Amino acid sequence: MKVVVAGMGYVGLVTGLVLAEMGHEVVGMEKDKKKRELLRSGIPPFYEPHLEELLARHTEVVYPDEWGGWGACADVIIVSVGTPPLPQGGSDLSQVRALAQEIARAGIGKETVIINKSTVPMGTGGWLSREIHSHMKGQRFLPRVASCPEFLREGVAFYDAFYPDRIVIGADRPTTRAKVRMLFEKIEKQNFEPPPTLERATGKRGRVPVLETGLESAELIKYASNAFLATKISFINEVANICDAVGADIGEVSKGMGLDARIAGRFLRAGLGWGGSCFGKDVSSLSHQAAERGYVARLLQSAISVNAFQREKAVQKLAEGMGGVRGKRVTLLGISFKPGTSDLRDAPALTIAQKLIDRGALVTATDPVALPFAREEGVPFSLVACPYEAMEGADSVLLATEWPDYLDLDWDRIKKGMRGKLVLDGRNSLDRAVVEGAGLRYKGVGR
Ligand code: UGA
Repeated sequence: MKVVVAGMGYVGLVTGLVLAEMGHEVVGMEKDKKKRELLRSGIPPFYEPHLEELLARHTEVVYPDEWGGWGACADVIIVSVGTPPLPQGGSDLSQVRALAQEIARAGIGKETVIINKSTVPMGTGGWLSREIHSHMKGQRFLPRVASCPEFLREGVAFYDAFYPDRIVIGADRPTTRAKVRMLFEKIEKQNFEPPPTLERATGKRGRVPVLETGLESAELIKYASNAFLATKISFINEVANICDAVGADIGEVSKGMGLDARIAGRFLRAGLGWGGSCFGKDVSSLSHQAAERGYVARLLQSAISVNAFQREKAVQKLAEGMGGVRGKRVTLLGISFKPGTSDLRDAPALTIAQKLIDRGALVTATDPVALPFAREEGVPFSLVACPYEAMEGADSVLLATEWPDYLDLDWDRIKKGMRGKLVLDGRNSLDRAVVEGAGLRYKGVGR
């Protein structure tokens, strides 16, 4: 099929390259000139494992400056532009609105299906069809729109896109759903040859379940899934805080809980809470959408407040452990919101650093991939590439992102360079015995 993907962010670029791998003809539309130039030269515009390799495998993908005739000849157009949060918790749909105009101006075929992969408020699918229609000139028909939410995680985005747990296709007409299903047929049947470094894990062999739904249900499945996972993390963080209070160990507690198949063990890692561009935005947006319709989503609001408290609690633990914050040197190991990505959006490390700075601390941070991005953002703390150097003279160290690089550091060497002794393991990922064996003081989250 001829596929135009509009918006070359994480979702759009990964989806486009995976569809190219499935043999579709892919065109990547991107507004940012610098990004287009990077993509044309095969250079990843952001860090994501396998991206460079997939770009090199698919040099046939074009990244044009203008829509030109691309819309008119497309079988499907995938919408993957940003929908950033608004201050009140809603979603900013200005990029989707602008795209609707462009699609209408470029002209589309009657059979073209617009597939929405951006996370958009319920009802946007129907609105998008009417919006494009209102800008169409000449022949006017109501464009077909489907919602096909994306469930990929940053850092393992390609793996998730090649081997998803499910494919959700929401559309009002069966023929629209059938066309979208055809686009993802090879993924559904898992009958493609995996790229050399992205082998299927054993146990991931059969067909991928496909769920066909109405438009609004598909849109809500995306929000509800993220909100559930985020709430699960807040739940375990709440239990971790109770562990701190009663002297129990959250590692043992979450293991014991996760062995119940109804609960399941994933997303039960306590720590500094969730970050990234999705969970915070989506939980707030779902709560906001509910409120707009007169329903107060109390559980979602609690999940948000527990998550914010985890960051504050880390600062309190550092303050207690150092005997105050003013004038103290704190080193953060990791800045990105999780390992495997350079993404700094809503990263707990950034909030914690700001809180420490506001209370008079001197903050230094290190990260294996995010430093250039942090520098570009102009973060208000020092950035040091070598973790050992970053910890020289520190009163305390906070493991903010559990990058593998930080899990087997030489703590004897670190102890010699530090001024204080406190190590706060914000991700419960360090070996307590090793840290304590070096003569340092270990604190975790609920352990
Ligand atoms: C999340 C979802 O997992 C994806 O399914 C979804 O497609 C994506 O949002 C999206 O909407 O685009 P992502 O934000 O990339 O993916 O990252 P996750 O791996 O889900 O982690 C989110 C945050 O939760 C991270 O800060 C991570 O450190 C934290 N987390 C995760 C925990 O604190 N504990 C856990 O047990 C798991």
